[in-house]
Amino acid sequence: MAARILFLHHTALLGGAELHLLSVARHFRESSTVVLFADGPFRHALETAGVQVRVFPSAWAARGVRGQDPRFSGANFAGVARLGWLVAQAARNADVIYANSPKAILVTRVARLVRRKPVIWFLHDLLDEAHFSPRAIRLLVTTANRTAARILANSKATAAAFVSAGGSGELVRVVYDGFDAAPFADSSIDLSALRAELGGEKLRLLGVFSRITPWKGQEVVLRALVKVPSLVVLFVGAEEDPAYGNKLRRLARDLGVADRVRFLGLRKDVPQLMRVVDCIAHVSIDPEPFGRVIVEAMLAGRPVIAARAGGVPEIIKDGVSGILVTPGSPEELAEALLRVFLDQAATAQMAANGHARALALFSEARMLNEIAQDVSETSLAP
Ligand code: GLC
Repeated sequence: MAARILFLHHTALLGGAELHLLSVARHFRESSTVVLFADGPFRHALETAGVQVRVFPSAWAARGVRGQDPRFSGANFAGVARLGWLVAQAARNADVIYANSPKAILVTRVARLVRRKPVIWFLHDLLDEAHFSPRAIRLLVTTANRTAARILANSKATAAAFVSAGGSGELVRVVYDGFDAAPFADSSIDLSALRAELGGEKLRLLGVFSRITPWKGQEVVLRALVKVPSLVVLFVGAEEDPAYGNKLRRLARDLGVADRVRFLGLRKDVPQLMRVVDCIAHVSIDPEPFGRVIVEAMLAGRPVIAARAGGVPEIIKDGVSGILVTPGSPEELAEALLRVFLDQAATAQMAANGHARALALFSEARMLNEIAQDVSETSLAP
């Protein structure tokens, strides 16, 4: 019989960890349920994929964790306890609980006081001080060591950060994210209209696919643009904080590049957009735990430039399947962009290598197989 999995996730916004869960939950949808601690577009995406969803809205879960302490006092503690209780009820018939976020593993720890189901934690985050406070790291590591039967990390970098923060190495296995390559290879779609809409063949287009938020490094891209004449940048992604979007627009004006910058917002045609741009950059200023956009860029057959930090060097072999640059360095990014546009033969070869590497290492089938194996091993555990 298929394993009955209770998936837990704290938010219903759509980012990398959510896209990961969408593909895993879709695969196990016949026998599983996703519990979200908030309502939003992710619920809709799951339901559209035929996944059963329950929402337990929580004010605690809606508060940001990045760089902040999860405060376990007063109303917060009550909020976690309430969620723990609800999750324990929801887990009654589950064979395994799959916590997909830090807040989900904290709630699971409480739920286990009522119902001792085996727990898998899929760790999408680098537990380091660029992303979390020392206190939050301690709390998460202790919780994971006590609560999880297995911890799946999205990169060796993520696994290593967990262990060096005191996490138990025996619990950890690396499971790289996996992708369905089909949308990136669909030859029935005519891309020329999209290219024309974006300015036609004469323009050279750089695509940047990320939420518009400081740590994703859009500012570095604007500064690099100054040194790469005639390149046009397309920022694709939701503006999390409109004030930051406006700050970027102002900076573009001050740098004299505003006429070469376009904000396209959140788009549904990301695979197509990736295929029509000439190059893709992913230059987060804090270490990226994995970096799904990079693999997608490779699947789209585009040359990709990315910041050398976190899990990224596990995806790209520098100079072979893409180009790595120092995080936060507009100079290096500009140099890499010039290289991409000047040496077209080498660039085409790099994009082809990247494409082959993405197909070989980051397929959805491989990821789902690995997770299915972890699910069956942990749910059989005594
Ligand atoms: C998180 C990480 C990102 C990773 C994704 C999927 O969103 O920040 O680097 O690609 O999870 O594991």
